[in-house]
Order: sequence, then structure tokens, then C-alpha cells
Amino acid sequence: MPNFWKELKNPAFLLAPMEDVTDTAFREIILRLSHPDYLQVLYTEFTNTDGLCHPIGRDKVKSRLQVNASEQKLLKEKDVKLVAQIWGNKPEKFYEATKFISENYDFDGIDINMGCPVKKVVKQGSCSALIQFPDLAGEIIQATKEATKLPVSIKTRTGLGKHVTEEWIDFLLSQDPAAIILHTRTQKMQTDFPAEWEEMGKALAVRRASKLSIPIIGNGDIFSMKDAKEIYAKYPVDGFMIGRGIFHNPWFFNPDFNPSIKDKLDTLLEHSRLYVETWGKKRNFQVLKRFFKIYVNDFNGAAALRARLMDTNDLEEVENIIGSFKKLHTIK
Ligand SMILES: Cc1cc2nc3c(=O)[nH]c(=O)nc-3n(C[C@H](O)[C@H](O)[C@H](O)COP(=O)(O)O)c2cc1C
Repeated sequence: MPNFWKELKNPAFLLAPMEDVTDTAFREIILRLSHPDYLQVLYTEFTNTDGLCHPIGRDKVKSRLQVNASEQKLLKEKDVKLVAQIWGNKPEKFYEATKFISENYDFDGIDINMGCPVKKVVKQGSCSALIQFPDLAGEIIQATKEATKLPVSIKTRTGLGKHVTEEWIDFLLSQDPAAIILHTRTQKMQTDFPAEWEEMGKALAVRRASKLSIPIIGNGDIFSMKDAKEIYAKYPVDGFMIGRGIFHNPWFFNPDFNPSIKDKLDTLLEHSRLYVETWGKKRNFQVLKRFFKIYVNDFNGAAALRARLMDTNDLEEVENIIGSFKKLHTIK
């Protein structure tokens, strides 16, 4: 199985895994809007390994791994890779879940979440909590690697209460993952404090000293290509993973494109239709509303239009509101 991480352009751009955001519908929209010179890797939402290993739990969590045929087609056409992200705290569940994913889906890689800072998961010893239990983290990485031929990467933070970047990156490199995605904040910092990219300098120095060539991707507060360029000049990472930056600009991965009002409204409609077509009643329509503000901004009347859209309860209402706005403003 080829390790795509070794073949990415430098610097590569990746869309971060985001729960209730990076489902198959949103990923397809981003694929349509992006230029393959920039967007190279997409991630699923994080999926629990205990859930995946349980017959009833599996039904509850497997929508997170859903890939529509239309998304699959675009992935192939644009040669963008799709990684399934999993989380948990038991090596045997990682083994079983990874086997299940590898045998039943067509992902390009598996990623282990060692970065989620949410208190509930940290209390269980999962995600970022694993930073303080390297023995268990190592067992999890090895169990996951044994279960699949796909490349296995780790997405993590720089520490729990304080940065332990050097020790932690040194340890992760010793586990020979396919890539490390480093969010330059500790668990305690959540996303309430600015990302501390000096920690990336330390991580890159540890890798240099190790003489290994495992890719290190940086994550945290990259809101524009200009941000990425500035950081890259100081910390030449192998790539950048973009999270909330996509809410500021859904065309993030197509920096030379300047969307018109029509582009924005048509994309909102396409996304809404695809979401409803994909999920029907399985996912709440209200979740879709968080996306309205990412398309409806920076034009006359955007605030009032947004307010009306936030009051909708189904696709038909969204279509009617957008239709009458376009008519009123002669947007064809
Ligand atoms: C709504 C939301 C959901 C997220 N869900 C996940 C997730 O499922 N898995 C994960 O590893 N990180 C998750 N994250 C963290 C992001 O992947 C990323 O690490 C974080 O937002 C920092 O990057 P940024 O500063 O570019 O946003 C989530 C973040 C947000 C805002």
C-alpha cells in the first residue's frame, strides 16, 4: 500500500477533521471549490473505536465514515486523499476498528486522535490524555499499524497542562508513524489562546536530530495563505492543516479565486441540497445552519439575509429565501 504522506507537495494543505462539519457533504463541497495544487488531504470526523467494535454502537457512529459516491468520484478525479480518524483508549479496540475500516471502506489512511482536548474524553484517558501515558499511546499506535496496510498518522497537541513538545515528538517518532500532525497548543489551552508556533520549531529540531524523514504537519490559527506563508518562512513544516480557517473562507484552498455573490449563494444551495439528500432525517437540519454564515458574508444585505436563513427549518425555506434574494437583486 503506497504511503501517500511521502508523496505530498511541500507544503501540503489539509482540511482538519471537525465533528459535525467535515461530513461527506461538506467535504464534497470543499473538493468542488478547491484547487488540487493546494488541497491534498481531507479527514473524516473522529469516530470512536469502542462504538465501531460494537454491533449497536457501530450503527450509531458509522455515518461519520460515510463517503458518498459523488465524493469518491471527485477524490479520484482530483487525486485528493481521504483519511479516517479514530479515537479511544484500548489498543485491542483500535486493532479491531482499524481492521473493520480497512476491510469495508476505501480510505487512504488512518489517523489516531491524540489531540482532542474535551474534558469528558480526557477524563477517560483518550485523545490528548494519551500524551501523559506514552506506554499506552505506543501500544495503540502499534496495534493500529498491525491491523492495516494503510499509513497510520497521529494528530496531537504539544502537551496537557504544559508543553512537553520535545519529549512527546521524540517518543512519537520512535513509533514510526506515517506522519505527525501537531496542533501547537496544549490540551489546557483548548482553542482559547493563540497557537504557539515556537513549539513547532522545537518539534522540527527533534526530527532533525533524529535523522528521520517522517512528515510533520502544523496546525493552529492558520486563517489565510498569507498566514501559512509567514509561518513557513520560520518553521518549514511539511504541510498545514486548516481548521476554522475554512469558516472564514470556504475557497481557502483556491486562493486565486474571488467568489461572486452568486457563487456564494449557489454554493450555499448546493451544500444544503447535498446535506439533506445525504442525511434526510438522520442528521438534524439545525446543524446545517452553522454553515450559512460562511457563505453569506461580505456583500450588501448579507446580515439581513443571514438572519432570515437562521430562522429556517427545512430546505424548501432556504431555497425560497435565496430565490427571492436573487430575484430582488437580479443575481442570475
Ligand atoms: C467544530 C470543530 C470540531 C472539531 N472536531 C475534531 C475532530 O473530530 N478531530 C480532531 O482531531 N480535531 C477536531 N477539531 C480540532 C481541529 O481539527 C483543529 O485541530 C483545531 O480547530 C485547530 O486548528 P485551527 O486553529 O486551524 O482551527 C475540531 C475543531 C472544531 C472547531
